[in-house]
Amino acid sequence: MEKMIVQGGRSLQGVNKISREKNSALPIMATSLLPSEGKTELQNVPRVSDVDTIAEILRKLGLRVELSGGRALIGNGFFESHMVPLVESKKMRASSLLAGPLLAKFGRVMMTEPGGCVIGNRPIDMHLEALKGLGAKVEKVDNQYFRIEASFLKGNRIHLLFPSVGVTENLLMASCLARGHTIIENAAREPEIVDLANFLIAMGAKIKGHGSSVVRIDGVKGLESVKYSIIPDRIETGTYIVAAAITHGDVLLRDADLEILQTEVSKLLEAGCEIRRCDEGVRVASRRVFSPANIVTEVYPGFSTDMQPIMTTLCSIADGQSRIKETIFERRFNNVPELRKMGAEISILDDTLAIKGVKRLNGAEVEALDIRSGASLLLAGLIAEGETSISGVDKIYRGYEDPVLKLKNVGAELHSLDQ
Ligand code: UD1
Repeated sequence: MEKMIVQGGRSLQGVNKISREKNSALPIMATSLLPSEGKTELQNVPRVSDVDTIAEILRKLGLRVELSGGRALIGNGFFESHMVPLVESKKMRASSLLAGPLLAKFGRVMMTEPGGCVIGNRPIDMHLEALKGLGAKVEKVDNQYFRIEASFLKGNRIHLLFPSVGVTENLLMASCLARGHTIIENAAREPEIVDLANFLIAMGAKIKGHGSSVVRIDGVKGLESVKYSIIPDRIETGTYIVAAAITHGDVLLRDADLEILQTEVSKLLEAGCEIRRCDEGVRVASRRVFSPANIVTEVYPGFSTDMQPIMTTLCSIADGQSRIKETIFERRFNNVPELRKMGAEISILDDTLAIKGVKRLNGAEVEALDIRSGASLLLAGLIAEGETSISGVDKIYRGYEDPVLKLKNVGAELHSLDQ
C-alpha cells in the first residue's frame, strides 16, 4: 500500500504542465471500439490508473490497445466480446460507458453495476432507461448482470430527467449508429460531452447541438478510425490553481484552458487567487489572506461538484465563514473528517458545509477515500505545519497524472512511500 508524505509550508514556484482530461479520455477510449477497421490514435492521453483500467477492459473485449508515451492506439484484435469484465468494472464508474458502444456494435451487452468513487448513491437506472428508449431490452441475470439487447437501435426523442454526464455520453455513442434520428432533451452540457461529440463527428457521426441542452443525432452506417487530441483537464487545472494560490506561490500552468472553468475561476478570483491568462497558459499567484466563499455545486456551466472538495481546502484557511452546498452527489464529503484531523473547522448540515476558516492547518495521518477528496487532502498537506501522511493514494492516481513529480517540480516537498 502506498502513502504520500508531504512536508507543508513550501511556496510553489515554476511551471506545471496540465494533462488532458481523464473524463474525456474514458468515453473517447470506449468509443474507439466502434470502427470496424483501422486504428484510433489518441494523443496526449493522461497516464492515470482509470485510463489503464479502461484499456484493460477494452483488451478483455478483444481490442488491441497500446499505451505509450502519452499515445493510445486502439484497433480490433483477434476476438470480440460483449461482456464487460467484472473486476475492472468494479474499479470505476466509467465502465458503464461501455454499454452504449457495445450495444451499437454487437446489439448486446452483459455488464454489472459499476464501482467507482463512493460519493453517494450512484445508480445506473437512467442509463438503462435511455438505452431502452433506443429500443434495447434490459434483463437482470443471476441477480448480478444486466443483459442489454437490441436487434437494431432505433432513433427516438429522449428526455432526460436529469442532465447526467454519463447517460448523455452513452446515448451519443449508441445513437450515432442507430437507424434514424435521435433527439436528447435536457442533455448534459459539460466540456467532456462536447469533446466526445467532436471525436464522434471526426469519425463520421452526424451530431448537432452538443454543448447545449438539446442534441440531435442522425444515425450513420459506420464510423472510421481517426487521430484525435483530447482537451485539457479542467479539474486538474482547478486543483493546481488552488495549489499555487494557497501556498502563496507563483506558477505557470502550461496548456491550461480557463474557458471551460469560468464559474470556478470567478469564485477563485473572488476568494483572492490571482489568475491571469498568458501566451503559454495561465499564471497563478497569491499574496493575500483568502476571503470566504459561498458556493452551490451545479451541472455545467455551474460550479463543478468535482471542484467542491478542492475549494473546501481553500475555504478552510479563509478569513471568515464559507458555505458550500453540494447538489449533485449525496455524500461527497469524504475529505471533511480528514481535514478536521488537520485542524479544519467544518460542520456538515445535510448537503451543506459550513467552514470556519482557521489560521493554519497541521500535519496529520489522513486517508483518501475518493479521487477529489484525496486531492483536497494533498492540497491541505502542502500548507499544513509539519508532516502529512496520506494513505489510500491509489484513489488520487485514478485521476491525477504524476502528482508527486508535478508538485516536486514546482518546489513542493513530498514523496511516495511503499509499505
Ligand atoms: C461524471 C464524471 C464525474 C463528475 C460527474 C458530475 C466521468 C467518468 N465522471 O460522473 O467525475 O463528478 O459527471 O459532473 O465523467 N444518476 C442517477 N442515475 C443514473 C445516472 C446518474 O440517479 O443512471 C445521478 C447520480 O447519482 C448523480 C447525478 O445523477 O446524483 C449526476 O450523475 P452523472 O452526471 O451521471 O455523473 P457521472 O456520469 O457518474
